[in-house]
Amino acid sequence: MRLEQIEKDMLEGKHGKSVQKSMEILTTLGEIFGAECMVDVHSIQIAGVSYANLGEAGLEFLNEMAEDGKVRVLTTLNPAGMDRENWRALGINEEFFRNQNRAIDAFGKMGIITTCSCTPYLIGNAPHYGQHIAWAESSAVCYSNSVIGARTNREGGPSALAAALTGKTPKYGYHLEENRHSQVLFKVNASVKGTDEFGVLGKLIGDKLVELGKKIPYIAGIPSATVEELKSFCASVATYGGTALFHMEGITPEYNKYTKPSEIVIEINQDDLDRTRAELIDDDIEIDFVSLGCPHASIHEIAKIAKLLEGKKVKKEFWITTARPTKRIADEAGYSKIIEDAGAKFAADTCCVVAPIKGRFKGIMVDSAKACYYGRAKNKFKVKIGSMEQCVEEAIK
Ligand code: F3S
Repeated sequence: MRLEQIEKDMLEGKHGKSVQKSMEILTTLGEIFGAECMVDVHSIQIAGVSYANLGEAGLEFLNEMAEDGKVRVLTTLNPAGMDRENWRALGINEEFFRNQNRAIDAFGKMGIITTCSCTPYLIGNAPHYGQHIAWAESSAVCYSNSVIGARTNREGGPSALAAALTGKTPKYGYHLEENRHSQVLFKVNASVKGTDEFGVLGKLIGDKLVELGKKIPYIAGIPSATVEELKSFCASVATYGGTALFHMEGITPEYNKYTKPSEIVIEINQDDLDRTRAELIDDDIEIDFVSLGCPHASIHEIAKIAKLLEGKKVKKEFWITTARPTKRIADEAGYSKIIEDAGAKFAADTCCVVAPIKGRFKGIMVDSAKACYYGRAKNKFKVKIGSMEQCVEEAIK
């Protein structure tokens, strides 16, 4: 790789041990993926924050990096394994609480903003069009590349941290214009509305891309989409298709920048969406857990949940997962009180997938196709997808 003088100095240890280690990680990655040089990054999001993922080995690595490492770029974290304030109410044990905080403290020591969220773009870590960034969580990566038009590969925890400590990432993959062209045209001939329906569409397209061995779809036929619908779509298409970038006609900023694919064209009709939705509803499900906010709920979604719950009581465990700053706005706006008076719980900083709750519930109802995937695969729950309204109805019935 062609390195600038400052990058060579970093590699030689002139900027400290953790910067040296970081540059070793980044140059190794760059060599593996054939990068010609590094590029400056403007925003970082680090995943693998839950103590359940990190373990003692991961924590040791973090502590080592924190000895002399300080971030050079705005950096936030992906959800952790618990709500840092409300952990007891969510059934997290004291030992996990202590270990999770040891990890978050190590990140904090490096100057990382210890807000734990998979929607950093909703809480101030918001890059703009064309900026190079290094993000790690799959739905956030897909959102930033596609909806914002920033440029990032899907980083692992160590490579995102290395980018934060150096302000650099190797220039390959989605950082290069030539790798941002769409490969398959999907024509949607049905109306798609709401976070659940966008999640179903994401699964359908994701599954098809895997079958075809392709990664970047061009989607036509969606007249409009909200931020919440797009974040749900991103989470789903990234989970089922490994997609980190899509173009949506009339909606995403780069849709008409590259040639529209014409070789592979797939029509999506209502029947296809119905069949895909049925795959996200398990037979004989007994729902004892409802969770909304995958990806982390926006203030708009929390306002809607508060309206649906006002004056009601939930009869099942009900979590709303969101970023701490969004929860604070909900507190100020009075939404939190309405939601908590109804018996629902906020799970800020965490979510129903990364929290250590494997096997604790029989069946989960969600409005997110991604949460269905991990509810089954990771937490061994039966799953059911529904609209936000249907999820709230289920919780209070
Ligand atoms: Fe975010 Fe957890 Fe869903 S990290 S995208 S809320 S699985």
